[in-house]
Amino acid sequence: MYRYIDADLYCEGISLRDIAEAYGAPLYVYSASLIRERAGQLTRALSDIDDLLIAYSVKVNNNLTLLKMMTELSFGADIISAGELYKYLKAGGDPRKAVFAGVAKSREELVYALTHGVFMINAESIPEIIRINDVAKERGVIAPVGVRINPDVEARTHAKITTGRRGVKFGISVQNLLTSAEMLKQLKNIDIIGVDVHIGSQILSPEPFLAAMSAIAGVTAELRKEGFNIRAADLGGGFGIPYNKKDRPFDFNRYKAAATPILKAMGTKIILEPGRFLVGESGVLLLKVEYIKSEWGKTFVITNGGMNDYIRSAMYDAYNEFYPLTLRDGSITCDIVGTVCETSDIFAAERKISTVEEGDYIALMDAGAYGFSMASRYNARPLAAEVLVDGDNVKLIRRRENLDDLTDTDG
Ligand code: LLP
Repeated sequence: MYRYIDADLYCEGISLRDIAEAYGAPLYVYSASLIRERAGQLTRALSDIDDLLIAYSVKVNNNLTLLKMMTELSFGADIISAGELYKYLKAGGDPRKAVFAGVAKSREELVYALTHGVFMINAESIPEIIRINDVAKERGVIAPVGVRINPDVEARTHAKITTGRRGVKFGISVQNLLTSAEMLKQLKNIDIIGVDVHIGSQILSPEPFLAAMSAIAGVTAELRKEGFNIRAADLGGGFGIPYNKKDRPFDFNRYKAAATPILKAMGTKIILEPGRFLVGESGVLLLKVEYIKSEWGKTFVITNGGMNDYIRSAMYDAYNEFYPLTLRDGSITCDIVGTVCETSDIFAAERKISTVEEGDYIALMDAGAYGFSMASRYNARPLAAEVLVDGDNVKLIRRRENLDDLTDTDG
């Protein structure tokens, strides 16, 4: 959905330079068609599964308009906090399609989730299961619980986003879960209806998912033997996207062929919690070139955005492609940096891009996932605006913050 027409970069039917000039920069732009396309791709890959819930992972991008799009696609939600459930409900989401993850759910959050009737609370520890039982008892209800296991499988992704290996804070080890089975049976205000796993994010090959599925199938069989009536298998999220255009996209044909028989044999509802795959490529972050500086034999392209707008480069050394909104002749090799007072505020090092000049706009590509949702006001920089493009239409879906917003909570 992003392509050059002559020298100008377009999102669907609209020139991004026109958008940047109208809405300013830094600016997040999303392509609605691309979200729908990715949703279709994922749905087709899972089309042989009868009882399927695709629970969009709200943390990835929680803009209300995008959440509404997900709801209209009949997707549910993977939520991690009361705040995410609140936004999902505001967007018209059905709580019975929400699954609640997270290692530190507070009593208040559990009450909130139970009051709204989420489908399943994915518990990440034995103490949490006990707390859920207590809260449910106080309220006179039976809480639907999924047990998140840590299967100790390698996700083949960045260490900071690997979540299913031994030694990390996520999930319950299979051994601990099974030795706790007797105790869990005594808890009368929970119904353990599911098993859950999430091994990590930005995974580009099917194998780690297949390993996680085998683990979940094994635990389901064990729990059933113990008398638990397991009806749901939640496989988490993690499908990766090709940030570097040299990378190969995720192979859904291979995934479908290998995963379908395993998933069908589970005899449960199947839940997936994709996030990045649905929205990552649909979004770009438009930046304006403030200065071009030459020092130390290097060229710095200094943009008006920063790590407060998009932190993934600073935090995970993440790679993103950069495309100027209007192509000029020639190319330069440069560091593309931001405004923030930190050396780590660098989007790309020693990168060859087509020539840019002061005042030009450039697009940081594939910024739709964990972009705006991880943005902050660091350096007292108001949050950027967001717009949605659909065909020839463009709509502001979050206004740019102004200086008054910086003191909106009196602090
Ligand atoms: N489900 C659970 C329980 C999760 O923790 C996550 C992501 C997802 C689903 C969605 O995963 P996805 O399909 O988007 O890979 N900020 C990092 C990624 C952190 C992932 C957190 N959990 C980044 O920018 O790469």
